[in-house]
Amino acid sequence: MTSTQASNKAQERLPDNCLTNSIAILDFGSQYSQLIARRVRETKTYSEVLPFSISCEDLKRLNPRGIILSGGPNSCYDQYAPKLDPEIWKMGLPILGVCYGMQLMAHDLGGTVESGDLREYGRALLTVVRHGKLFDGMDPTIESWMSHGDSVTELPKGFEIIGSTMSTPVAAISDEERGYYGVQFHPEVVHTRGGQRVLENFVVNICGCPQTWTMDRFVDEAIGKVRAQVGDKRILLALSGGVDSSTLAFLLHKAIGDKLTCMFIDQGFMRKNEPEWLVKKFAEFKIPVHFVKARSRFIEKLAGVTDPEDKRKIIGKEFIEVFDEESQRLGPFDYLAQGTLYPDVIESSGTRIDPKTGERIAVKIKSHHNVGGLPKNLQFKLVEPFAKLFKDEVRLLARELDVPDGIVVRHPFPGPGLAIRVVGEVTKDRLKTLREADWIIREEVKAHGLYRQVWQMFGILLPTKSVGVMGDQRTYMNQIVIRAVTSEDGMTADWARLPYDLLETISRRIVNEVPGINRVMYDITSKPPATIEWE
Ligand code: XMP
Repeated sequence: MTSTQASNKAQERLPDNCLTNSIAILDFGSQYSQLIARRVRETKTYSEVLPFSISCEDLKRLNPRGIILSGGPNSCYDQYAPKLDPEIWKMGLPILGVCYGMQLMAHDLGGTVESGDLREYGRALLTVVRHGKLFDGMDPTIESWMSHGDSVTELPKGFEIIGSTMSTPVAAISDEERGYYGVQFHPEVVHTRGGQRVLENFVVNICGCPQTWTMDRFVDEAIGKVRAQVGDKRILLALSGGVDSSTLAFLLHKAIGDKLTCMFIDQGFMRKNEPEWLVKKFAEFKIPVHFVKARSRFIEKLAGVTDPEDKRKIIGKEFIEVFDEESQRLGPFDYLAQGTLYPDVIESSGTRIDPKTGERIAVKIKSHHNVGGLPKNLQFKLVEPFAKLFKDEVRLLARELDVPDGIVVRHPFPGPGLAIRVVGEVTKDRLKTLREADWIIREEVKAHGLYRQVWQMFGILLPTKSVGVMGDQRTYMNQIVIRAVTSEDGMTADWARLPYDLLETISRRIVNEVPGINRVMYDITSKPPATIEWE
């Protein structure tokens, strides 16, 4: 995709004025661009991530109240370094440049940026030289997170240094008159203490955003929009039991009542008792769910299949077939509702530019399948009320809509379910074994009060066998791996440092209570280099 195409794409998606009282984040390929958007939204201010290549004219149409330039992997002297439309500097809006964004600001406005001998990665203590509006109310030193090779060495006219570190004398700059600010550190990451305050100072005090982005307002607006979009037509929703599709069901039910049909396809890969629990919960809220029993179809298709990608593709394809048949039986429907989230929509990876070739870089690790993964050629128009929301905002919305706790605080669960947690071929027996072990894992982590502290915790069944001894008998059985990670968003993760007594209880219970397992392991790999799921 060229820069112009990327910009056109942004334009297709965004109605005029949609950033009134909001912040535009121009993405220069940083892994943290979405995080900046989330942090800005935590100040009750709407924000969107847009490609760096957006034209000044397009940006004016969107009417933001301020601009944040993200970091990025390039040096502003790279041949294909991503550049800003120079007219944007003349818009008269406050601008905050982060890392590469600050270097670009200095470079474009007449300063000098140089490749430093001293690269600075990780924690650094920033000394505030002048608090001004950006560092208002903050301590004289800020523990900050750095990740840069280049540094600003000469300031553009009108700028002053407002913060320095040992190895980066120009670590934060400002031109208060024009409302321009630059920070070499990343205020959006948790390692920068007080980083949220820096963003809030920019968004609220400098840009003057009125902090009106709240979920109660969102509910009213979203209901209005759905009603206006679909009128008295019917909507079909494929329910997965996850927080996104469940919250969507609650919202749509509120908006259009019995014009909504929820379909749940039981592929046979859910956790123990979950399908039944889900239907019961929805019934309590008077939301009928059409339950499709499809277990045997899926397991038959997986016979003899061991390759993870093949498994994912087969499950995805079968899901579409079942969905197609059932929707025809229950239909006709005009609309299909999907819980598509903002990160699925934005082209953030689309703006990562190879400095040598100018090509866009995108890497596919796994083909994800979920209920949103339906093909585009289905005969429905789409309703996607969450297309501008982050996951944590959906959780807030769920609370607003009284979605049951068991759904809202549920750990993420992959579309192909336990089928990708049975390593190798999936059989009924292996699923049963994994279900029992998984049940114990969840029961124990909840009993220890740690369920909410971890991002995900689950079991994986290995098809390999190892020798053990139970009573006086030699055993030769499969293993269960416990996977527990902490994470902000599933993109990166660390293995959870769980208490030994919890691990010990789980191990003892699984070996004693789950037939066919004689060994339990704990996965101590972070992501990267591993992924959270094993397949
Ligand atoms: P990985 O294994 O890629 O997982 O580190 C990252 C997050 O995504 C979840 N996951 C999926 N979610 N459909 C989904 O809806 C899928 O096919 C899928 N595969 C992985 C995973 O559980 C973790 O939260």
